[in-house]
Amino acid sequence: MTEYYGELCTRMYESDKSIAAGKELDFYLSFVTDQNMRVLEPMCGNGRMLLPFMQRGITIEGFDLSEDMLHACIEKGKKLQLAPNVYKQRLEAFTSEKQYDLIMIPFGSFSLLPTELVSQSLASMKAVLAHKGKLLLTIMLKHDGIQEMPEWTKVNEQQFQDETIVVHKKVRYDAKQSLLASHLKYELVRGGEVVQTELMDFPLRLYALEEFQQTLAANGFEHIVVHEVKEGYGAGTYFYVFECAVS
Ligand SMILES: C[S@@+](CC[C@H](N)C(=O)[O-])C[C@H]1O[C@@H](n2cnc3c(N)ncnc32)[C@H](O)[C@@H]1O
Repeated sequence: MTEYYGELCTRMYESDKSIAAGKELDFYLSFVTDQNMRVLEPMCGNGRMLLPFMQRGITIEGFDLSEDMLHACIEKGKKLQLAPNVYKQRLEAFTSEKQYDLIMIPFGSFSLLPTELVSQSLASMKAVLAHKGKLLLTIMLKHDGIQEMPEWTKVNEQQFQDETIVVHKKVRYDAKQSLLASHLKYELVRGGEVVQTELMDFPLRLYALEEFQQTLAANGFEHIVVHEVKEGYGAGTYFYVFECAVS
């Protein structure tokens, strides 16, 4: 059955991306300059970033369209004696009476939005960004040497006590639309038998840095700064974060 960030995908995500830490977390925390700030994390997933913010007493809420990811966030919160304010919501349809001082979407998640939902999603955030508030966004960058995988290829395997999740992938790149279209197959194996299968379409919109800067400007964002976070996801890694605001 085709799902989006379903149960097996969420278990895999939890197994290696459970809680943000180190330079990545420090970078986002550095924008919390006042303990009374209100923070919003659209596409918050399993609370990887949201929960460490809560642990520091920061007022943060989040939303996501995957019930399994939200469930993982709430259950993890319980173990930490926290009750995260998270709910099911699509970014492109988000509205609120509240205003937020900081809105952030870490880990390239904004690239999950198809081109036709980009302006609407940026407008949703613009409408709730407080005066002098900041928006922090990450995207997946265009890069050379994208490897297509026309056939199902095993890309990951994770053991959980008496069961294993095996992940297969197919990848196609549409350069004209800058769309990296992956298909993922998650198989839960118990006693040598596949007892559950989950299929997921995983399209990613890739951007050039300047292209995304222009997208933000064209959608009314100003004071755009691009930060390079060195070693952000660990030694030898880096990522870019777009900081912007509305005046
Ligand atoms: C890769 S996860 C990353 C979660 C989180 N940003 C982090 O840093 O770990 C991406 C999340 O975006 C969510 N998502 C994708 N499209 C969405 C949309 N249109 N509205 C809200 N959430 C969405 C998915 O359900 C998934 O949980």
